[in-house]
Amino acid sequence: MPNVVAIINQKGGVGKTTTAVNLATALSAIGKNVLVLDLDPQGNTTTGFGLSKGRGLQSSYGVLLGLTDPREVILKTYVSGLFIISSTIDLAAAEIELFSQKDRDQKLKQSILDLVEYDYIFIDCPPGFGLININALNASNKIIVPLQCEFYALEGLAQLFSTIQSVRNTINRDLIVSGILLTMYDRRNSLSSMVASDVRAHFKNLVFNTVIPRNVRISEASSHGKPVILYDVRSAGAISYIELAREFLDRERK
Ligand SMILES: Nc1ncnc2c1ncn2[C@@H]1O[C@H](COP(=O)(O)OP(=O)(O)OP(=O)(O)O)[C@@H](O)[C@H]1O
Ligand SMILES: [Mg+2]
Repeated sequence: MPNVVAIINQKGGVGKTTTAVNLATALSAIGKNVLVLDLDPQGNTTTGFGLSKGRGLQSSYGVLLGLTDPREVILKTYVSGLFIISSTIDLAAAEIELFSQKDRDQKLKQSILDLVEYDYIFIDCPPGFGLININALNASNKIIVPLQCEFYALEGLAQLFSTIQSVRNTINRDLIVSGILLTMYDRRNSLSSMVASDVRAHFKNLVFNTVIPRNVRISEASSHGKPVILYDVRSAGAISYIELAREFLDRERK
């Protein structure tokens, strides 16, 4: 089995894509061989690496439906050791196309089963709880949950954890949570620190010690088609994602 990590939270705009792009980049910078699978029809991971979205079956859409050999659509990025399967807008239709298929919730798992040459495969998941995300959860051994430090952060987590539990009870018994990641932390805003301590009180060791600060360099970087680590390695955003990569690897060793 390849080592597959889904970056998932059904809430939109919480930092899933930013985490997929920057954690993957930080890990390849320390010598890991990493593949990122962009499963979001919005394709923000794809453009986040300065690449154009794929077309039709030549993308994660074909891989998800089991119609394309993933090795035929893996693209190099300009980061050495970092590869991507790009997204396409066609993915938006995949939910409906999957619906009538046998093994509709295991298509992706079957498709990427023998991609063992990567140390890690990260899946950037779309928001929501559709069949794309059920496929992502079934194909993964672990998940990272980015959580934005804002008032409604905890809302929806219970639903996410109950979905994870039902995936465990059915097809993917060994699915584990690598960690919950606090994102867009604003130290000038007392709400941020209240949310952070609430989440830590509730989820304890499940929460990464590393916190991703709100940092304008992160959003600038994505608009330039670059991971923040390459855009401004000295920025607080870049430093925090490098720290996250170290902590993630520590957790892997345990
Ligand atoms: N730490 C941060 N500091 C500042 N801006 C950030 C930070 N993290 C993410 N952003 C910005 O917030 C927006 C949402 O982030 P991102 O796209 O990573 O979220 P997402 O969970 O993938 O969203 P979606 O659910 O739509 O896929 C983006 O414009 C991104 O550049
Ligand atoms: Mg996204």
